[in-house]
Amino acid sequence: MAKEINTIGVLTSGGDAPGMNAAIRAVVRTAIANGKKVKGIFKGFQGLLNEEIKDMEKSSVSDIIQKGGTILYTARCLDFLTEEGQKRGADICKKHGIDGLVVIGGDGSFQGAQKLANLGINAIGIPGTIDLDIACTDYTIGFDTAVNTAMEAIDKVRDTSTSHERCSIIEVMGRRAGYIALWCGIANGAEDILLPERYDNDEQTLINNIIRNRKRGKKHHIIVNAEGIGHSASMAKRIEAATGVETRATILGHMQRGGSPTCKDRMYASIMGAYAVDLLCAGKSKRVVAYAHGEYTDFDINEALAMKKDISEYQFNISKILSR
Ligand code: ADP
Ligand code: F6P
Repeated sequence: MAKEINTIGVLTSGGDAPGMNAAIRAVVRTAIANGKKVKGIFKGFQGLLNEEIKDMEKSSVSDIIQKGGTILYTARCLDFLTEEGQKRGADICKKHGIDGLVVIGGDGSFQGAQKLANLGINAIGIPGTIDLDIACTDYTIGFDTAVNTAMEAIDKVRDTSTSHERCSIIEVMGRRAGYIALWCGIANGAEDILLPERYDNDEQTLINNIIRNRKRGKKHHIIVNAEGIGHSASMAKRIEAATGVETRATILGHMQRGGSPTCKDRMYASIMGAYAVDLLCAGKSKRVVAYAHGEYTDFDINEALAMKKDISEYQFNISKILSR
């Protein structure tokens, strides 16, 4: 017999992402529509351990769908990596009557959800990260807003770079994942794209590309560099010294995580939030909501965590052809 859920907790964890609020709103309103109580857990797993838990009503999520960040705040919590922390988290859920939990975050947060599910709290993960690096899903909440923010910023840098006939290295977020870099690289028409998954430290090729493009009369040279490679400022100095082309580095940083979510982020987050509640109402646990092959779907959390994702070789090769 499927376990009937009475009270659904919701938390956001790991790096925030635009659209998380739309997901929270959908969780709260779908749960209430299904006759469930909802509790907001503030500041991720840290807030759970600190019992920062409040009842949520329909009105608690009014006027948030258009807002960046997360009204529940978020945190990274080292205590939750320990069995003792996880057990305490499950006990606190039980104390507050939380028998179903929606965790909005990335792979790390899903591991926290998996541990709570093993301790008897029905838990569902929703992919929320600007990095697009969750293997089971083609879509993660926040990526669309972040990549558009980065794209618009790079267009602006390109204007001034062209006026001054400079080379610009623009660093975008993604410590381990190069999706923002790849998408911006293609969408901004960058001359070079450096991805953590593919970078071979070959600065000489970059230098040769700049010299060749100058000879062809190109007025700018845009290098989109991912955070995981980093060192944009020192790279700029070395490139300027080797090419004689004035070179500047711009690090876009956390601006990429903020701002009002795009329509796509609001829409997907809303459907995923509702889908997570539907899974809990159907007595499901240890599932991750996903969007794959054009449909909303869900995966077993253990299987989802075991899946690997890599940059598409086809897209990477096209990015090279288009930049030449
Ligand atoms: P993301 O969810 O974006 O991948 P993190 O990897 O920083 O972000 O994880 C967010 C939080 O999830 C961590 O601070 C920790 O509290 C929890 N978490 C991460 N890994 C585990 C794990 N193996 N077991 C339990 N909790 C974890
Ligand atoms: O996971 C989202 C992300 O923005 C990554 O792209 C980035 O590497 C990391 O978080 C930055 O984390 P912090 O906010 O702790 O600097």
